[in-house]
Amino acid sequence: MSAADGLDWLAVPALAPELAEPLGISLARMDPWVTLGSSAESLARGLQTPHPDLTRHLALRQGELQGLAAVRAPWLRGAYIELFAVLPSAQGRGIGSTLMRHVEAHYGGHAANLWLLVSAFNHRARQFYARQGFCPIGILDDLVIRGQDEILMRKRLESGSERRSSRLPAVSSPDAR
Ligand SMILES: CC(C)(COP(=O)(O)OP(=O)(O)OC[C@H]1O[C@@H](n2cnc3c(N)ncnc32)[C@H](O)[C@@H]1OP(=O)(O)O)[C@@H](O)C(=O)NCCC(=O)NCCS
Repeated sequence: MSAADGLDWLAVPALAPELAEPLGISLARMDPWVTLGSSAESLARGLQTPHPDLTRHLALRQGELQGLAAVRAPWLRGAYIELFAVLPSAQGRGIGSTLMRHVEAHYGGHAANLWLLVSAFNHRARQFYARQGFCPIGILDDLVIRGQDEILMRKRLESGSERRSSRLPAVSSPDAR
């Protein structure tokens, strides 16, 4: 059985302090947040702050958090993954890929695009997202901290509206007769 089997899923508007505070500490100890200078306190505060457009998708095993994706929707004709992480003890075992499939299944059909930002120095995450079908769209320099580039990535989803429009007959041009 792989580590990604048997996960439980929870979608919540915000994390309770008992979950947000230890998670803030874990995230602040790993890249990209180390290099970007994010403190445990600011990460924990962010995770506890609800917003009507934000959903936190949690992957749990026997009640223990394995990974999470914080997703803002609607965002630019789709949904924007503003935080994506698997806890260090659970990484490299397929949980990130499973979490991404879960996010796609949740937003696919409503959203035409999934968006995210990845730090240029975060090579492992860039490779991971490329394998998940995300394409680099542009570079945003000095966005989070001076001297570090962030890369905007996009994955097109087959949305309900696209499926509907693909059934429409092609518009014929008067010259094409
Ligand atoms: C990037 C990240 C989300 C990937 O999550 P993950 O759970 O480690 O990802 P997966 O296990 O699905 O895939 C990653 C690797 O495991 C391998 N893998 C996938 N399924 C596997 C399985 N069943 N068994 C063993 N290995 C597996 C993949 O081939 C991949 O190889 P890599 O080490 O060359 O990248 C995670 O490493 C992470 O949280 N990193 C720190 C935070 C971060 O950078 N977040 C992104 C910010 S934008």
